[in-house]
Amino acid sequence: MRSLDEELTDLADHYRWFAQVEAAPLSPRYAELAAAVAEDADVLAFLGTLPRPKRQANLLLGALQYLHVGPPADGVELHRWVTGDADRLRETMLARATQTNEAARCAALLPVLAGLPGPLALIEVGASAGLCLYLDRYGYEYSDGVRVGLPSPVQLSCEVTGTGLVPGGMPEVVRRAGIDLNPLDPADPDDVAWLQALIWPGMEERRDRLTAAAAIAAREPAEIRRGDLVEELPGLVAAMPVEATVVVFHTAVLAYLPAPAKEAFAELVTGLPVRWVSQEGVGVLPAVRDRLPEPPAPDEVRFLLALDGEPLAYTAAHGGRIDWLPAAALRR
Ligand SMILES: C[S@@+](CC[C@H](N)C(=O)[O-])C[C@H]1O[C@@H](n2cnc3c(N)ncnc32)[C@H](O)[C@@H]1O
Repeated sequence: MRSLDEELTDLADHYRWFAQVEAAPLSPRYAELAAAVAEDADVLAFLGTLPRPKRQANLLLGALQYLHVGPPADGVELHRWVTGDADRLRETMLARATQTNEAARCAALLPVLAGLPGPLALIEVGASAGLCLYLDRYGYEYSDGVRVGLPSPVQLSCEVTGTGLVPGGMPEVVRRAGIDLNPLDPADPDDVAWLQALIWPGMEERRDRLTAAAAIAAREPAEIRRGDLVEELPGLVAAMPVEATVVVFHTAVLAYLPAPAKEAFAELVTGLPVRWVSQEGVGVLPAVRDRLPEPPAPDEVRFLLALDGEPLAYTAAHGGRIDWLPAAALRR
């Protein structure tokens, strides 16, 4: 059994790693704040009072943004906010979870879904507020000149390299459903405020997109079942309309599952009468990664987009980029 001192040393290392590796390339403010936490004995002691899964940097910084409608200016303000309002912060961190919902990830899903025989019944596992279920309600502009979608308050632009799938039009979606351990309600201002708080400083362009996508989702609610994706999936698939192609998809979800649960999910989904679209970190589904024509770089940060387990493209983790693999050209 580890002592609390040892645990807090590990926690400081986690915050240092988060600052240098995760935050520095995307959000200098978060990098500075996380580095300050690593050196702040009082803040580390506060984190030590929380259950281990609730000590993560994203959750602490998101909860501070949520309570103060924006991030602390620096480590000094962070220290004051944490030590001066510890009970409210603890309550928020215990009640909430990191479940960023990013509609921009749809720009990589669309070319794959548009190529499937319609109409489509969509099931998103790990849906959060379900914003990726409305991909047919958004407008798209790809860097190779392809434009799809009606004028929409959610306009997604996407860099494309290589030769891959080109969406000829918008798929017809007849059902939208999802599963999440903790579904968020896009019509609930508090849930939307939490999603806003999960956006890192330096990525402000994501805020208007989130507000606009949540308004679209709120007007046309999807059925999002509360529960575990492995347990709930067979029942939900069985409830889909028989005339539709059922598509099970997920983005930025399976990394949260332990390895046996990921394997159980992959086995389950490949045995169901569905098409399966995954967009996850490159090492998250080893069987998909092992089908890449070349091994990924050890420090690869892009996601891997795959159809029925076959890798088609690398994509940017928060959307906005597709780098097609040779297998995608063969599916044109
Ligand atoms: C990072 S969010 C991604 C949301 C959305 N897919 C997107 O790309 O914007 C991950 C979501 O997966 C959900 N999740 C994690 N493990 C799950 C499980 N075992 N069953 C169902 N949902 C799960 C979380 O609650 C969270 O809402």
